[in-house]
Amino acid sequence: MTNEEYKAQYGAFVQLTEDRLQTLCDRYLPAAARISQAARYSLLGGGKRVRAVLVLAACRLAGGSAEAAADYAAALEMLHCYSLIHDDLPCMDNDDMRRGRPSCHRQFDEATALLAADALVTAAFEAVANAPLPAESRAEAAAVLAKAAGARGMLYGQELDKRFERESAGEAQLLELHRHKTGALILAAVQMGCAAAADAGAVRTPLEQYASEIGLVFQIVDDVLDVTSDAATLGKPIGSDAENGKTTFVSLYGLDGARRLAAQHNDAALAALAPLGEAADFLRQLACGLLERRK
Ligand code: IPE
Ligand code: IPE
Ligand code: MG
Ligand code: MG
Ligand code: MG
Repeated sequence: MTNEEYKAQYGAFVQLTEDRLQTLCDRYLPAAARISQAARYSLLGGGKRVRAVLVLAACRLAGGSAEAAADYAAALEMLHCYSLIHDDLPCMDNDDMRRGRPSCHRQFDEATALLAADALVTAAFEAVANAPLPAESRAEAAAVLAKAAGARGMLYGQELDKRFERESAGEAQLLELHRHKTGALILAAVQMGCAAAADAGAVRTPLEQYASEIGLVFQIVDDVLDVTSDAATLGKPIGSDAENGKTTFVSLYGLDGARRLAAQHNDAALAALAPLGEAADFLRQLACGLLERRK
């Protein structure tokens, strides 16, 4: 797959996601309510849509069509967006910018942002429940999403993230943090993609291993960019981690050490895809893109 083909495929996956998000917003987040306006402001205002793309690519690799998985992809982006709105609140990271615009609580107010994020969670599960897929698939996708988002997944990661503002952490603890805070939803992406396919079969395990590795890469790179990038490129404030006294792989090992670690986990992600042959080329390029990303 050439780089041009990869970019075109990524763009097509994003377009499918954006279209479905619009449909789901019209259905579940009617514009009349202020919390719906705030949810739409955050949800439809950009974002790389990496998690959605992973759902769609995984489904295709597992023998299904991207179209079949579009509701799951959009639901995961809704869930992710909720986590970002809460993450920016004053009681969390206290960040004023997101996706190049004022964060939700700055554009609206704290109470509205809190509720808008909650509305995105319920809308996400409604979208999964009503997706045009067999009941068994929808139950599996809902269970995967709930586990990944909740107290055994992303939320536990956020708890650890806050804890390590006050307490110091070593490598094992930081890996645990990253696996939950960011890794859980990225793992859920490929699992939801598999759930949308009739029978994921032998591709499931390699996909899960791949996702676990790129989840780590994704957050390590996020921590690096918080130091090396600029707000205009990133669309969110830089220096946020240091300001909040967070332990990150950059604070633990320095920039070069963090970059080396990210490269090692990228290698592991590529190794996991080896049994899938050429069909996994898109995911290979995606992994390398995430390692080298600038935003
Ligand atoms: C930001 O996620 C939060 C992290 C888990 C690091 P993204 O970098 O995927 O944010 P968007 O969706 O592209 O804005
Ligand atoms: C956030 O991690 C992960 C979430 C669960 C939202 P960060 O706090 O590092 O994400 P950014 O840098 O604000 O996007
Ligand atoms: Mg945070
Ligand atoms: Mg943050
Ligand atoms: Mg960050």
